[in-house]
Amino acid sequence: MKTINKITVIGGGSTYTPELVEGFITHKEDITLNELVLFDIDNERLNIVGGLVKRMIEHAGLSSQVVLTLDRPAAIEGANFIVSQIRVGGNKARIRDEEIPLKYNIIGQETTGPGGTLKAWRTIPVVLDIAHEVEKYAPNAWFVNFTNPSGIITETLLNHTQLNAVGLCNNPINFFARMSRLFNVPDKEIFLEWIGLNHVNWVRKVYIQGQDRTSEVIDQVAKDGVPNYSFDANLVRHLGVIPNNSYLKYYYFPEKKVEEAKLAEKTRGEVVLEIEKDLLTKYANLDLKIKPPELNLRGGALYSEAAIRLILSIALDKRDIQIVDTLNNGAILDLPYNASVEIPCVIGAHGVIPLQMGNLPKTIRNLCQSVKSWESWTVEAGVTGSRDAGLSAFMSNPLVPSYTVAHDLLEEMLDANREFLPQFFK
Ligand code: G6P
Repeated sequence: MKTINKITVIGGGSTYTPELVEGFITHKEDITLNELVLFDIDNERLNIVGGLVKRMIEHAGLSSQVVLTLDRPAAIEGANFIVSQIRVGGNKARIRDEEIPLKYNIIGQETTGPGGTLKAWRTIPVVLDIAHEVEKYAPNAWFVNFTNPSGIITETLLNHTQLNAVGLCNNPINFFARMSRLFNVPDKEIFLEWIGLNHVNWVRKVYIQGQDRTSEVIDQVAKDGVPNYSFDANLVRHLGVIPNNSYLKYYYFPEKKVEEAKLAEKTRGEVVLEIEKDLLTKYANLDLKIKPPELNLRGGALYSEAAIRLILSIALDKRDIQIVDTLNNGAILDLPYNASVEIPCVIGAHGVIPLQMGNLPKTIRNLCQSVKSWESWTVEAGVTGSRDAGLSAFMSNPLVPSYTVAHDLLEEMLDANREFLPQFFK
């Protein structure tokens, strides 16, 4: 059995950490982990979450040492893998991202539209600082990014640092699970031509045991639906590919999503704040030794499995195919080389090599390219602090209707986030 010496979680005080740890426990026969380091800036959360993690590890009979620390360079030094799951500004900032755009009749959301832009801008200076420490203290480490907006943060890391970085989302693994239930086959017998960007992606082909079953999936959506899949059948037929991500609804049904958000009593960030408060109370209970089922109230289902599979494939040089976020490098012909994309890649000790996906289907090309343009402007503005680039980011987002709205909303959101945006307010 292979041993990994050290895995570090940046944002280890996140309520998600027990999910990740469950992945190590489930795969304890595949890999031995010597040291799991949890770093956070919030000591109280670190101790509550870290306490549960220690009990989970002990209860499962793992020998891994769990280290809790507020010292980031020490946490990073010599790590083999670094998992990043930070939220700069916390849920309070998320709630502002959700509320301000709504005043302009635009959805407020943590990875989509203006809200996603501000979340990226708050994150970029911090993640670049972390990255520079990784370059110094663990230059060979693999940096696994879960921090949202995952595609934008991954594009930043891959274009502006020397890291071995890869972005990850739990959506692909959940779609595999859906297909696995639909066709009653294990996921290793499924191949998906998954094409697009993080949270803006489609399945062009579904192969089951090598047979193209795409049209059956589309018919099934029209007939009885696919469990846990809620896209409009006519839209799916029209596209000819399967939109597989609930975040696409913000682009396909913007008025409806804005209306829903306006009618909702609470924003998602407000709901998450409450869920997290309850979770932390549960985690603090010394009798708890497993991941509590209530964690499923958060949207990160199967996150642990996605992370551990990626880590195992690199550590064990599996050279299998997984869907991750990486640089395009010509894999999708209609997107720039240095754009992050979410597509099937070969994963092994060599790293991440994307499969050639050719052209985007015509029915999705325009949306995919526009969102990519927004993402890349968001990276440029987030790194340089250029207001012009920031305005271009807002103007290129398909949810922002005009220059006037882009301008006013940009100013209001920058101002509301002033304390987290050193690059804009030097
Ligand atoms: C989904 C998304 C993730 C997101 C997670 C939690 O899994 O793909 O990007 O972080 O849900 O969402 P929540 O709204 O619970 O914070």
